[in-house]
Amino acid sequence: RMRRACKAAAQTLEKLGKLVRPGITTEELDAVAHEEAISRGAYPSTLNYHGYPKSLCTSVNEVICHGIPDSRALEEGDIVNLDVTLYLDGMHGDCSATYLVGKVDESARKLVETTYECMMKGIAAVKPGRPISDIGRAIQTLADQHGYGVVRAYCGHGIGERFHTGLQIPHYFEEEATTRMAPGMIFTVEPMITVGSWDYDQWKDGWTAVTADRSLTAQFEHTVLVTDDGVEILTLP
Ligand code: MF3
Ligand code: CO
Ligand code: CO
Repeated sequence: RMRRACKAAAQTLEKLGKLVRPGITTEELDAVAHEEAISRGAYPSTLNYHGYPKSLCTSVNEVICHGIPDSRALEEGDIVNLDVTLYLDGMHGDCSATYLVGKVDESARKLVETTYECMMKGIAAVKPGRPISDIGRAIQTLADQHGYGVVRAYCGHGIGERFHTGLQIPHYFEEEATTRMAPGMIFTVEPMITVGSWDYDQWKDGWTAVTADRSLTAQFEHTVLVTDDGVEILTLP
């Protein structure tokens, strides 16, 4: 069941990614995400989640996460994270990716590329018997090498029958994250990486999180399963 929810989320994200271009509004992307969910017999998990108003999160440029789709058209040079969570067969699957809108400058391209590598390094650190802190250590090590910040206020999370279980996955090195990974555990790895400050501000809408210094930030997310000898990425199309 978890595999089906995760695959549906990944396929929806892939479809949305192909629509990203200058001129499309984030509301239009949200409408496609909603339709796609319904046509798959799924429910978009974010819709009405603690009052969140949309079926998709769209986080542009300095927005770290939880950007709300609106009537602003994407512009050449923007970067945009699309975060899709679907509820299917009683399970949630959660994934996101950051896309380049048209031609973007070299520093933005490098940030997006490195953020993807940070996520993959974090996932590669998933191993039964090892502490959760290994994941953030791997991510932070790579981010540090580039002089990037790692957002601390938002973490990966356990997921399954619930969207967010109590389990937290910090993306920075957190000594106290001593819980040992065990086969069968399912959680997300979703680092948010910044060019400047890792600190954040929140808009008055109660959702949109932006970097404190308004520097550029990117994010990628997979839902993963701890296996007997390592890890399996569940949110693959
Ligand atoms: N999908 C986001 C995550 O990765 C959570 C979005 S919650 C919302 O955890 F309410 F903002 F949509
Ligand atoms: Co998530
Ligand atoms: Co997500």
